[in-house]
Amino acid sequence: MILLLFGMETEVKQVEEIELQIKNVCKNFMIDKKKREIIKNIDINVKKGEFVSIVGSSGCGKSTLLRIIAGLETVSSGQVLLEGTEVAGTSPRCKMAFQEARLLPWWSVEKNISFGIGRKVDEEEKDKLVAQYINLVGLNGFEKALPRQLSGGMQQRVSIARALISDPKLLLLDEPFGALDALTKINMQKEVLKIWESEKKTMILVTHDIEEAVYLSDRVIVLSERPGEIKNIINIDIGRPRKRGSHDFSYFTNLIYKEFFTEVEREVEYSI
Ligand SMILES: Nc1ncnc2c1ncn2[C@@H]1O[C@H](COP(=O)(O)OP(=O)(O)O)[C@@H](O)[C@H]1O
Ligand SMILES: [Mg+2]
Repeated sequence: MILLLFGMETEVKQVEEIELQIKNVCKNFMIDKKKREIIKNIDINVKKGEFVSIVGSSGCGKSTLLRIIAGLETVSSGQVLLEGTEVAGTSPRCKMAFQEARLLPWWSVEKNISFGIGRKVDEEEKDKLVAQYINLVGLNGFEKALPRQLSGGMQQRVSIARALISDPKLLLLDEPFGALDALTKINMQKEVLKIWESEKKTMILVTHDIEEAVYLSDRVIVLSERPGEIKNIINIDIGRPRKRGSHDFSYFTNLIYKEFFTEVEREVEYSI
């Protein structure tokens, strides 16, 4: 009896901690008048404050899945629940940053960031919020700069600040560092880790960079080729900050690379 009660209690606790539920989600698109399955039977529960990465080959439906979570795309079947409520269209509870920073070129850094607030606030509160998020992403001194006066990494910082300023529960990152040079990318990964630790947001990152996924994530979800199905979920059981090149780090990157090698081998077979 005690055991039973104990079991029930942990179950209730687990339910409370879940931020996002993706329940058996499938998505089809009509391409060239034919129905194509893009993603299939995706089942994921993401805990509050968790950092999850999704990796998979190009075209396997990663961006489609993020767009569904963000309410930018509908499901063909299944359900997405954010804090227990079904996602139906975009909402300030969930924000997204993309590979291209997508800033308005004629607006300054502070104006681009304040655009993300998304609700009416008085001037004083707006200035306070903008200053807080400029500080969070380390862009002090660049408040008046235009996007073209910034490096790619700095533009991404603006994009992340714009996404975070409305205080969303969930931040979705779709290959945000894919266009950056190797060194800037590593610095940005450190920044995102710092922000994740200080802001305690739930984050889902789509990336094709396996080291990036291992450096940042609590869990890495490997999708199969299209239609993207969950092939494996790997818990990255290493403390942070993680050291690239350490034994544990290499263990996990190799584990995920192995999943990809089988994909690549199959691709070669098909193309012969
Ligand atoms: N709006 C759309 N209409 C038709 N096909 C689409 C649409 N969006 C994506 N697709 C197709 O879905 C597949 C997966 O795309 P995407 O989710 O962008 O993949 P990934 O991000 O993994 O590279 C691609 O074949 C793409 O052409
Ligand atoms: Mg994509």
